[in-house]
Amino acid sequence: MLDSLGTLQRTHYCGNLRAADAGKEVVLMGWVHRRRDLGNLIFIDLRDRSGLAQIVFNKEQQAAAHARAEELRSEFVVAVTGRVVKRQKPNPDLASGEVEIMAGDLRILNTAKTPPFMVEDEVTASEETRLRYRYLDLRRTRPRQNLALRHRVILEIRKAMDELGFYEIETPMLTRSTPEGARDYLVPSRVHPGQFYALPQSPQIFKQILMIGGLDRYFQIVKCFRDEDLRADRQPEFTQLDLEISFPTQDAIFSVIEQVMVRACAVAGITAKAPFRRMAYHDVIRRFGSDKPDLRFGMELHDVTEHFAPARETLRIEGQVQALAAPGAAAFSRKQLDEIAEKAKGLGARGVYMLKVTAEGVASSLEKNLGADALRKIAAAAEAKPGDLVVAVTAKEQIPGTDAAALIAGQLRLLLAEQLKLVPKDRWEFLWITGFALFEWNTTEKAVVSAQHPFTGIVEEDVSKLEDASDEVRLSMRSKGYDLVLNGVELGSGSIRIHQQDVQARVFRALGLSDATARNRFGFFLDALTYGTPPHGGIALGLDRVVALLAGEKSIREVIAFPKTAKAQDLMADAPSNVDTDQLDLLGIQLKPLEEK
Ligand code: AMO
Repeated sequence: MLDSLGTLQRTHYCGNLRAADAGKEVVLMGWVHRRRDLGNLIFIDLRDRSGLAQIVFNKEQQAAAHARAEELRSEFVVAVTGRVVKRQKPNPDLASGEVEIMAGDLRILNTAKTPPFMVEDEVTASEETRLRYRYLDLRRTRPRQNLALRHRVILEIRKAMDELGFYEIETPMLTRSTPEGARDYLVPSRVHPGQFYALPQSPQIFKQILMIGGLDRYFQIVKCFRDEDLRADRQPEFTQLDLEISFPTQDAIFSVIEQVMVRACAVAGITAKAPFRRMAYHDVIRRFGSDKPDLRFGMELHDVTEHFAPARETLRIEGQVQALAAPGAAAFSRKQLDEIAEKAKGLGARGVYMLKVTAEGVASSLEKNLGADALRKIAAAAEAKPGDLVVAVTAKEQIPGTDAAALIAGQLRLLLAEQLKLVPKDRWEFLWITGFALFEWNTTEKAVVSAQHPFTGIVEEDVSKLEDASDEVRLSMRSKGYDLVLNGVELGSGSIRIHQQDVQARVFRALGLSDATARNRFGFFLDALTYGTPPHGGIALGLDRVVALLAGEKSIREVIAFPKTAKAQDLMADAPSNVDTDQLDLLGIQLKPLEEK
């Protein structure tokens, strides 16, 4: 038999009770976390959003409540009325551990089936089970704390943006495709059979149009949708802090984000210092082999190509040779060295060369190809100290406009730093990256594509290269784009935009879009640009990534209430799913038989 809540009202949250509350009559409500039955005494740990409190049912003093407590099982929902008393033996692991509640009355408000996993902080269930029963998973401390942090971070961002003069403006979810390099999620229209809306990959075009509309400073905390291959830091629907400013300098945009991020960090108890460091794209690739370098540790790359000159043919070297010195790794075993070589090959390396640096000198199988003197020079170039291991790599395939060996060495740098435990967990290294190329080479499409998106501004002197037929010239064009990186994670990306219609039209042409296609896809925007567009620029930060970093989580799934799996499924709601033929008929859609994969 269940009891009813009636007019009973909660007076306190479990996790907030302290020694100062001793003597108070309280009403608590929540879930049975754990129950221990010692015969005359039954203890339950009661859980609510704030944490746990210990409740004691004493058979001699409160026989009725004690008898009712015998029925309790894990995850039953109860209301307990009782008196707070100081514990004989406080429990230091519990915020409310100095007190317990001597129960006078117990109402069982609901029962619960035996859960598929215990609601414990250390969960052993697979992520799949956790996501299928997400409502149980959410009862655990960590997801709850992460969502609370997310709430406080978003609240602080909204306050900061308001104080900085921004309006929060909503842009449509049912719209046309906005290119951000992924595929669109399409929504069929019932009213216009055969026609589709696209869910926004970002509000990019709309926020630019808001600037044309004179709104001056816009921001939005907004869902974006991208059908792309997922990873730990990517979801098919995710949230951006998106903003745009009219008449901006790059510094003005950086300053807004720095103020917002410093405040968001403070919410998580982290001290971040503004202004953030700035580096040029070419420098970060050269020094760290990454466009999102983790600056919490050194191990920079060094170009040692010249020292390999005598053996380029024998070693079949193409492109650059990039080296780094792994501190203390000269002592690595044969097996560890083989593993590094294997990983490097997996990352696309052709040659992987190891040099052990000791007080006696530099040892490497390369000696037969290059001679002892060159080994010493390579070690010196890599700034290796005795005890270090120098790893040098070349790339199997060259990428036009990029140092492919540096990109491989950059990934190796991260793996080695992790293995050698060189990454301090309590450092917050923000970094602005500027000086991006406008276009990049897409190896699958074998074509020049936008490095960010086609609305990115162009450094003035380079605009005239838009019509150049050579890929090489176009790949050398510089953009007005920038990225924000934190501890090796790309947090956000933005740019000063193109605000002249003719330049925008020329960019579409340079990307291989015919004027007709450009008009068909972006005609409304090209038109809007002709009616007095102010210079403008902005940025979008991945809010899930921001919160995940502040929460110390590796995956953004841990800071999203209902995340999707790596296969873009919602296991709890079982989406995506089939739909009835009736529904398809209404939309004028007929499914083709799926081809066997
Ligand atoms: P961009 O495509 O770089 O830029 O996206 C901005 C930031 O959004 C986050 N992000 C994601 N987070 C989770 N899952 C995803 N699938 C995902 N994709 C992107 C990243 C990224 O840095 N319109 C431009 C911004 C601008 O130019 O103002 C844009 O969307 O943290």
